[in-house]
Amino acid sequence: MSYGSYLALDELLSLQRPRLPDHPDELLFIVVHQASELWFKCMLHEMDHLTHAMERGEVMYAVLTVQRMNALVQIVAAQLSALETMPPQHFAQFRGYLGSSSGSQSVQFRALEAASGARDPHFLQVIQEHGPVPELVQRALDQPTLEELFERLVAREGVTVQSLYTGPAPTPLFLLAEGLLAYDSGFARWRFLHVQLVERIIGPMTAGSGGTLGARYLQRTVSQRFLPRLWAVRAEFFNPSRAAAAADAPASNGEGTR
Ligand code: HEM
Repeated sequence: MSYGSYLALDELLSLQRPRLPDHPDELLFIVVHQASELWFKCMLHEMDHLTHAMERGEVMYAVLTVQRMNALVQIVAAQLSALETMPPQHFAQFRGYLGSSSGSQSVQFRALEAASGARDPHFLQVIQEHGPVPELVQRALDQPTLEELFERLVAREGVTVQSLYTGPAPTPLFLLAEGLLAYDSGFARWRFLHVQLVERIIGPMTAGSGGTLGARYLQRTVSQRFLPRLWAVRAEFFNPSRAAAAADAPASNGEGTR
């Protein structure tokens, strides 16, 4: 066994096949997509661990796993910055070779969305656009969403999502709630950075190679949330009845001084 054979480097490094081998940016374009797919593979692997841990009630294991997923989602998002260095005229030189291929056909990305909790009619339509729903995506759709798993876990511990945020001290379930929220937020950050990249390279009004409106379509996905009820809990602290209850409580830490 050697470094190269363990990592199957001969195979790996033969998989980048630019249409224009001398092009200054096409290799990077391929590598960022391929690397993203490898990270998606890792994220799906972690997602399995996360869902099993939640099903078994292993809260701290779930916390560790969601922390790793959050590291991975940040890596995938950060990679997009490499492509920000590609000027539009360079992309125009090879975009035609892509034909109708598009990141929107990424099965692993759709499987991640499905496992995370996407169930809205638009999503269900998108995953059928290129033929039957891929098996990986269907399997994820057949599983409970992250939000459902989390709420079951909370119910099993005999508490409520709200009480996680009002209890006297942070609990493992609170850490998991915050980790899941960070995951949702990190995923949306990828969507935002991706649409910015798209606007930067092909402009805000150019249609996508996959047949959508391009950036105008992608903009709408940025506000999508997988765990809307975890986001909603936050607002409860700022509605009038909560504010009244808080006003009755003794002030601490200089609260209310600004
Ligand atoms: C030059 C850089 C890029 C451009 C111009 C670009 C452009 C686009 C456009 C226009 C769409 C909308 C669908 C369509 O009609 O084609 C799209 C979707 C998508 N792209 Fe990219 N993209 C770029 C880089 C990437 C990278 C590096 C990835 C990483 C895997 C990626 C993954 C995706 C995914 C997953 C979607 C589907 C998003 C959704 O439907 O919510 N893209 N891209």
